[in-house]
Amino acid sequence: MRLAQRVLAREHLALRAVARVVAFEARMLQEDKPVDGGLLQSIVDYVTEFPDRIHHPKEEDHLFARMRARNAGLCGAVLDELLDEHQKEEKHIAELGRALKDFLAGADGARQRLADLAGSYAFFLDRHIDLENLEAFPLAEKVLTEEDWAAIDAAFAENDDPLAGGKDEKQRFAELHRRILALGAPPPGL
Ligand SMILES: [Fe+2]
Ligand SMILES: [Fe+2]
Repeated sequence: MRLAQRVLAREHLALRAVARVVAFEARMLQEDKPVDGGLLQSIVDYVTEFPDRIHHPKEEDHLFARMRARNAGLCGAVLDELLDEHQKEEKHIAELGRALKDFLAGADGARQRLADLAGSYAFFLDRHIDLENLEAFPLAEKVLTEEDWAAIDAAFAENDDPLAGGKDEKQRFAELHRRILALGAPPPGL
């Protein structure tokens, strides 16, 4: 596996773990069970920033851009769909953040709205990752050349270099992720 593939696979696993917690919290909200507002806020903070700042730029600026340049005919449709989903995701998360704010303020109907948005976000995120893992990444292996992969790996390596800046930000995301998984683990039997 290439460095770029390893990095994206690792980030997808991290996002899937969060999606599982979001789905669980959506169920608790739906069933009128107690939820932890701090945990929900950590989730919203994480998904507001991590995909946009760390994950999507790697996909869009390096992998997807080179796939399209190499073979737009074969890759164009799936890449258009993924880019469209990235934009929709941003709007969905903004709505989720607003619903959480209303819920924490005790607004009428906010619990149901938050439950619906959290449930649909968890579903969306899982499906989006499937589309990338099962369709886009195999296509990348098909169309990209050795030279493309070397350039993508170099861009990812630079991005991952702790000396290249952004170290504090990455630590903050790792911390937030740990907190979400620690607080959001469903109790045994659920
Ligand atoms: Fe994506
Ligand atoms: Fe992705």
